[in-house]
Amino acid sequence: MSEQANIGVIGVGWVGLVTASCFAELGHQVTAVDIDAAKIDALRAGDVPIHEPGIADLVERNRERLRFTTAIADVLDDALLLFCCVDTPPTYSGDADLSRVQAVVSELSSGGEHVLVMKSTVPAGTGAAIRREMADLAYVSCPEFLKEGSAVDDFMRPDRVVIGADPGDDSAADEVEEVYRPLGGEIVRTDVASAEMIKLAANAFLATKISFINEIANVCEEVGADVTEVARGMGLDKRIGSSFLRPGIGYGGSCFPKDVSALKMLAGNTGYHFQLLTSVIEVNELQKRRVMKKLEKHLGSLAGKKVALLGLAFKPNTDDMREASSLVLAARLHGEGAKVRGYDPVAEAPARELLPSIELCASAESALEGADAAILVTEWPEFATLDWEALRATMATPLIIDGRNFLDPGRLRDAGFAYEGIGRSDGARETGDTREQAQAEAAKTRSR
Ligand code: UGA
Repeated sequence: MSEQANIGVIGVGWVGLVTASCFAELGHQVTAVDIDAAKIDALRAGDVPIHEPGIADLVERNRERLRFTTAIADVLDDALLLFCCVDTPPTYSGDADLSRVQAVVSELSSGGEHVLVMKSTVPAGTGAAIRREMADLAYVSCPEFLKEGSAVDDFMRPDRVVIGADPGDDSAADEVEEVYRPLGGEIVRTDVASAEMIKLAANAFLATKISFINEIANVCEEVGADVTEVARGMGLDKRIGSSFLRPGIGYGGSCFPKDVSALKMLAGNTGYHFQLLTSVIEVNELQKRRVMKKLEKHLGSLAGKKVALLGLAFKPNTDDMREASSLVLAARLHGEGAKVRGYDPVAEAPARELLPSIELCASAESALEGADAAILVTEWPEFATLDWEALRATMATPLIIDGRNFLDPGRLRDAGFAYEGIGRSDGARETGDTREQAQAEAAKTRSR
């Protein structure tokens, strides 16, 4: 057993790899385990299996302090603090699937005294059940708040670190606090159930904000208001705040859809009907489909029409396509008989697997050639700097549906495009809008 080794990470997905490499960067010796031997082999060879800004550099820089293994015994030998980062995907019932967490717990049952630090998102009550099952184990809930695309930065500069422990596990919680303290975020010490709820409530609230602004955008379209102005005017109220008020074609990813549903089901399982979340989910599902009406308004029947999807990932700076709006759109477009093409700067491999029926193009330019419409699905920075004036001539119909209000409507209209955003009036102002906010955020992430 190495003298320096002190942190174990179980599950080397997005959260696990970021957690492991950031702790290594902070000077800890980290042993990270995953059951996926191919992934571990790749990491040992220096190949990082995810597209996440900054992560490849961190792994490379900290090779000495990072050990990747498929044997849980290595982690148990090396580390006292074990960060559980396995995924908890949704089941058919909408509850969280805890089978991977349970597998970790059963592996630890013969592992002696450790502190299990739960970073996986689990329903409230999970920690207490694990603690009852394993008396030897200290248990701390420490939910993760990082966002894909800016995960390293979110880890290194947290708004807050939530540490939940029940009576008897205070010293374990102190040890967890110790490793997070250098990061400087406010430390929230609480009980396990409250920590579990903080995570679910935070994601559900952010999703609610998005569905709320999406509905406001839909009403703006009816009354001739501009949602970018509305969001700006609302967001300056400190009680509301400007973040997560960008309307679009729905939220996706591996977290919001799953966690909102899991919280709704968690409440439902106790007999409480969480009405608001039912609406949040429905608004999001409908939002992904509203684009169809906009296309039909300009093109009539979509049968045989060529539609280009610009961006396939659920958001920029990631190749993650889980619950991406592109998946719903491609299926709806096919349902109407359209021919679908797509381009994404980094998500080609997952797109090949998840969208086998669309034509994948090597560039935005080739996706747009001969197209009857373009739908901007993901706000990749490169789409803002395309030569739209030149591209107009290559399209069969110069129609753009800007699903993220990312492009400059004035410039596109001047170039002869029919432009449709989300909740933007025809004369959308070109300053202070969400396009600039989104572009600034994308540029900030790129420069990290
Ligand atoms: C989300 C949370 O933001 C993290 O705090 C949390 O740790 C993470 O889930 C998790 O539970 O692991 P993430 O899914 O990576 O992070 O992505 P977000 O940046 O939150 O975006 C989620 C979706 O909402 C994307 O599809 C994005 O396009 C959409 N979105 C976001 C909007 O439509 N409008 C906005 O204003 C913001």
